[in-house]
Amino acid sequence: MFLYRILRPLLFALPPELAHSLTLKSLACLTRLGFSVRVPSDPIVLAGLTFPNRVGLAAGLDKNGQYLRALEALGFGFIEVGTITPKPQIGNPKPRLFRSLKHHALLNRMGFNNQGVDALVARLKHQRETHTFSCLIGVNIGKNADTPLDQALQDYQICFERVYPYADYITLNISSPNTQGLQSLQAVAILEGFLKSLVSLRDQYEKFVPLFVKIAPDLEPQEIQDMAHCICQSGIDGVIATNTTQSREGDIPELWKREKGGISGAPLLPSSAQALKTLCAALPQGFPVIAVGGISCAQDAIEKREAGASLIQLYTGLVFQGVGLIAQIGRAFRVLPLSPQPLDRSPSSR
Ligand SMILES: Cc1cc2nc3c(=O)[nH]c(=O)nc-3n(C[C@H](O)[C@H](O)[C@H](O)COP(=O)(O)O)c2cc1C
Repeated sequence: MFLYRILRPLLFALPPELAHSLTLKSLACLTRLGFSVRVPSDPIVLAGLTFPNRVGLAAGLDKNGQYLRALEALGFGFIEVGTITPKPQIGNPKPRLFRSLKHHALLNRMGFNNQGVDALVARLKHQRETHTFSCLIGVNIGKNADTPLDQALQDYQICFERVYPYADYITLNISSPNTQGLQSLQAVAILEGFLKSLVSLRDQYEKFVPLFVKIAPDLEPQEIQDMAHCICQSGIDGVIATNTTQSREGDIPELWKREKGGISGAPLLPSSAQALKTLCAALPQGFPVIAVGGISCAQDAIEKREAGASLIQLYTGLVFQGVGLIAQIGRAFRVLPLSPQPLDRSPSSR
């Protein structure tokens, strides 16, 4: 944390996307030289998987799975790559990533810039063949920008089938604000058939890979309750709450009120926490929930656990606090009183 305070002004002098790729490249070099961070072991069984600890990397930071070994060395219990789409796409025009040090926040409208599912699968296959990861690897999937919404399911099916052999879990991203119309998949009338199709596709495989759904923070309580009911009925194994917010309430830079995109980091914490609370109250006790959104210290993470989440993910907190945050939260979790084990919904327990 101390070292990062010295490095941060240098990185923040660069445009955000450049700082982002420079940081990942430097981390990859350091890892090759033997750099690694120890996060206390704190295993938990969730959705049939054993997570070595409860702190994960949120989707979007390593969309193409290019930095898996460097991210593993940071001590994460799980890494979520993606969002990946069937075809490669360049995403939205730049500038599309903004940062505010004063507000500890990012605004992004990246628009699923990624190299496409085949490039990710080639990398994952190679990594799986040559290395045994100490953390789990989830793959977050979505649809291409030019795929009409009524054909979105096909995009998810393509990604699903391609990544299935190499993913420890798969996340259905239906909550990004930066792909037009994507969030309408959250409407229960559409969601029900959408989830059931993917669950029945999964049930054709011998190997069990849990399926998670990632939801937005900007939903009415009734919408979250309806979704929770639908998710439980569908056979989905867990929920990730939440994606970035489109709200322009709270303490954010004045200029951002006119910018399109999703806000993450400190200003997201209250709405993400409220959505998490509503979600956990609507789900059966112990249903697997992964909390993400605005965590920038151990206390934020503990509050997510207290609200009912079993695991947490980080993104923006890492940008402002540095990678020391991972071990800091890992240590804080180790001394928490034991919470009841979450429901095991894997096939062996059904
Ligand atoms: C630059 C950027 C890109 C992101 N890309 C994705 C993405 O591709 N898929 C996704 O599900 N979430 C994406 N997210 C959302 C994060 O995974 C996370 O849900 C959100 O940022 C809230 O967590 P945080 O406040 O800890 O950053 C992205 C976030 C940022 C800041």
